[in-house]
Amino acid sequence: MNNIILIGFMGSGKSSFGRFLGRKGYRFTDTDDMIVEREHTSINDIFTAHGEEYFRDLETKVITELVESGERGLVVSVGGGLPLRECNRELLRRLGKVIYLRADIKTLINRLSGDSVRPLLKGGNLTDRISTLMRERKSIYEDAADIILDTDNKSFDRMYNEIRKALK
Ligand code: S3P
Repeated sequence: MNNIILIGFMGSGKSSFGRFLGRKGYRFTDTDDMIVEREHTSINDIFTAHGEEYFRDLETKVITELVESGERGLVVSVGGGLPLRECNRELLRRLGKVIYLRADIKTLINRLSGDSVRPLLKGGNLTDRISTLMRERKSIYEDAADIILDTDNKSFDRMYNEIRKALK
């Protein structure tokens, strides 16, 4: 079973859908969880103590290790900013099939309102923050993906069936 990598904006459902795929025979893993486990602290605290670049280096490190492990049958949910580095996109391609969980901006704003665990959404107007980041990232996600999966108003079962068809 080839690995599946889920990319997409914060709040696009990567971890929830990844856990769902974890019940379909894949082994679920999440790069944010791996980093938190290793650093023994939250992502907010990593950003505050060491800054974003340090966090991005940790992302590159964990994704490199996953590639080098040669493990198969993984479903990997990656942090929303991980595909921003070209070297990470190359690593994702080596790791498996990259699926972009695309969600409407209104859906993302709804899901992320009241969020307190994501450092990049702190301060200022949430809608503006999300719109700006999405503008910067949209084409990166699309270019990095083998499969673009529109997720709005779709059940996980339906998304799973669409992926299975696309992977055949
Ligand atoms: C980030 C997304 C977060 C987390 C960090 C930075 C981003 O992960 O890695 O807060 O740059 O988009 P999720 O996409 O799982 O929320």
